[in-house]
Amino acid sequence: MAEILDGKKIANEVRSEIKEEVAQFVAETSVRPQLAAVLVGEDPASQVYVRNKEKACEKVGIKSQLHRLPAETSESELLELVNQLNADAAVHGILVQLPLPHQINEQKILDAIVPTKDVDAFHPTNVGLLSQGRPQFVPCTPHGCLQLLVRYGIKISGKHVVVLGRSEIVGKPVAAMLVQKEFLYGSDFANSTVTICHSRTENLSEITRQADVLIAAIGKANFVTAEMVKDGVVAIDVGINRTDDGLVGDIDFDEVNKKASYITPVPGGVGPMTITMLLKNTLIAARLSCGC
Ligand code: GUN
Repeated sequence: MAEILDGKKIANEVRSEIKEEVAQFVAETSVRPQLAAVLVGEDPASQVYVRNKEKACEKVGIKSQLHRLPAETSESELLELVNQLNADAAVHGILVQLPLPHQINEQKILDAIVPTKDVDAFHPTNVGLLSQGRPQFVPCTPHGCLQLLVRYGIKISGKHVVVLGRSEIVGKPVAAMLVQKEFLYGSDFANSTVTICHSRTENLSEITRQADVLIAAIGKANFVTAEMVKDGVVAIDVGINRTDDGLVGDIDFDEVNKKASYITPVPGGVGPMTITMLLKNTLIAARLSCGC
């Protein structure tokens, strides 16, 4: 049986560190970090995520404000709100929850968020800085995955990391991070040989079986089976899929657990880490705003 990478436990550890950092920042500057979250429409999963983000902020002493807009909001109305939040000195981080309704061009909205408040790190400036290995913000889910590896002491230098999925939110940025020579936590937690697989990848199982670390982020319930991994794999599951059996990941936990050395559960793995890294980014945004 694999050792469980306990995201809940590590998230609690990191959150108490952030809580202390926030308290120190407030003591030094009299500024309380603040996150503005924007939720357009009634997507049930998004509602849950946004509520969890609000609760998490409160627990570490970060202020949050939630802007709820109806599903029929136009692109220009949303842009107007983003511009207003950009200009509000009391707002340090801006998060527009995705997905957005079809009438709104997501990229246009994400491009409008001023890069110094872009706590998701989705703006092209932040994507570019990340790809050059000098990030201002590190995207939350990839950072959560890396934090788990770091806190469990799982070194990845020289290892083959196979990423399933090429999304802008997870697949591409996590690959960009792990391939760097040095990245936040030194050379042991970088320097990976990274392969990105996607829906057109041929001979997928042949590639995934080579993975020392497998990061699955495709949104397909129980997609990764035991036959697709080698003994001792470190299995990191970013998927959150609602099924009749409840929430499951992209990795068939019960099967892969028997072969892996480490595995993240769903829920309780990467999920809590994502929100934790958002808190970290909000504090970084507050620091950027006062140049400290
Ligand atoms: N929807 C799913 N994941 C995310 C995320 O990390 N950030 C935002 N803004 N929306 C999301």
